[in-house]
Amino acid sequence: MYQIKFVKAPICEFIQPVQARRAGVKVPETLLSSLLNPSNTRALNSSFKISTLVMVTNDLGEDFYPGNLDLTAQLFLHYQSSPTDADSDSNEPLYLDTTPLTYEDFQEKSVLFSTSKTPIKWDGKMRETRLEFGVPAHTLVPKLKELEIKLMNYNVKHRLSKKAKSVFDPLQDELFLSLRVLNVPKKTSRFAPPSKLDNAAAGIKGTYAEIRSLFEAENIVAAPEQSTVMELEDTTVLDVVSLPLQITLFQGADVTVLERFVSDKYCVRYLPIGIPPKTSLDESPKDLKLEAKGVVLLEELSNGIARHLWDAGIVVAKSLPKLYHGFPAGSKPDILELGTGIGIVSIALSIVFPNANYYLTDLYDAKEICEFNIGMNYGPRTVRRLAEPILIKFDELDWEATEFPDLPPVWSYIVIADCTYNPTYYDALLSIIIKQVKGDKNTRVILGHKFRDLANDICWFGMLAQQFAVEKEVWVKNGSNVMHLGCWKLRE
Ligand SMILES: C[S@@+](CC[C@H](N)C(=O)[O-])C[C@H]1O[C@@H](n2cnc3c(N)ncnc32)[C@H](O)[C@@H]1O
Repeated sequence: MYQIKFVKAPICEFIQPVQARRAGVKVPETLLSSLLNPSNTRALNSSFKISTLVMVTNDLGEDFYPGNLDLTAQLFLHYQSSPTDADSDSNEPLYLDTTPLTYEDFQEKSVLFSTSKTPIKWDGKMRETRLEFGVPAHTLVPKLKELEIKLMNYNVKHRLSKKAKSVFDPLQDELFLSLRVLNVPKKTSRFAPPSKLDNAAAGIKGTYAEIRSLFEAENIVAAPEQSTVMELEDTTVLDVVSLPLQITLFQGADVTVLERFVSDKYCVRYLPIGIPPKTSLDESPKDLKLEAKGVVLLEELSNGIARHLWDAGIVVAKSLPKLYHGFPAGSKPDILELGTGIGIVSIALSIVFPNANYYLTDLYDAKEICEFNIGMNYGPRTVRRLAEPILIKFDELDWEATEFPDLPPVWSYIVIADCTYNPTYYDALLSIIIKQVKGDKNTRVILGHKFRDLANDICWFGMLAQQFAVEKEVWVKNGSNVMHLGCWKLRE
């Protein structure tokens, strides 16, 4: 799994024609009002320049995408009304100046403003590449109209919603640009596996065949009918979106200043997931038609362990719905997630299975970003309507601590994704799993693991398999990476 990442937060600059800058004249108008004034040629001849550095790496950032890619940049125009009293009454932590759009908002309440004309080339030897493109400011004017029409349609569609706003005023409302960088898939993949995979290093990481035969030798496998292999395309490259750049702030007619706006140290991921239709309980998971929905997640640009996206987390979030497509009717299971990070797995699961209680846990480091992500998917700014309120909350839980927060007595599921990469924590993790399973044979442990070092991997699964048996599993092959998604239960 490769991810496009911003090395630096994107910058949007508003550039005036040279003559205008020399003239040094100031007119007290905002950018938008001057753009909407057809006689203001100075504003209309200005442009936006968007720039950043991007890289394409795996989750740990140690493997750069080894093939050639054509990346493209898109600018989206959207608006957000200022937070209302209802927003401030709620528990949603609105501590960032610019709140990203929800998944639905991104699709329904924004318009594509501009796309970079030439592809941004990524070749396998690169470590980062510069992205820079300019957009004439006057092209914003017809886009405002398009946005207005889209919002009107949206409001008509959602006219029962209290949040619907009938009038859109570009001069009053806050306008934003978001920069999205995505991979343009090529007809023929030019994916070239890194050369180190051809030599001895391949033995350390392990191929699917090697890992599978070791698992079979150790008898750590599910029954054949409960074991699936899923292949993800080599060229799966996750998009990245900047935090909204608030262009309303530009003072368009201040010709002496080059205005710039930086999008902060975070980026946004819009992650599509499949949702089974309501009647899915009796269907076979393989034939299930999934409705596209998605989660929106804030991620830090730095590589802080708890504050960014991990491969096994992405795979668990996207493939669990296919495997576990419902809980028994009428039940409301309690689900504990250990090492939730930015909350990707539980938030995705909660959208698929809203009839459950979710307790997301991690060290203090994850609290702020995880709570923000819960708020973004469930706060008052979302359009998601729930039959009944969902319990989804973050608690601090250190696997090595002896005192635990007050949690429900019995768990239906304990979910863990990408927490088994460091052998230092194996003992602590296994002991907290055992403590939280509390001897209950009905509790299932769902564990997503990415194979990174075969010796460590086998050691972890050997420890786990002494206490737990794997009931169902999915092996995920993604280029040179192998992941295992297992549903484990206490041994008899
Ligand atoms: C690689 S990240 C995976 C995050 C998330 N599950 C995902 O898939 O995106 C591992 C997580 O385990 C958490 N973790 C590591 N040691 C921990 C400990 N002793 N107690 C609680 N959480 C811990 C980290 O803070 C981090 O969020």
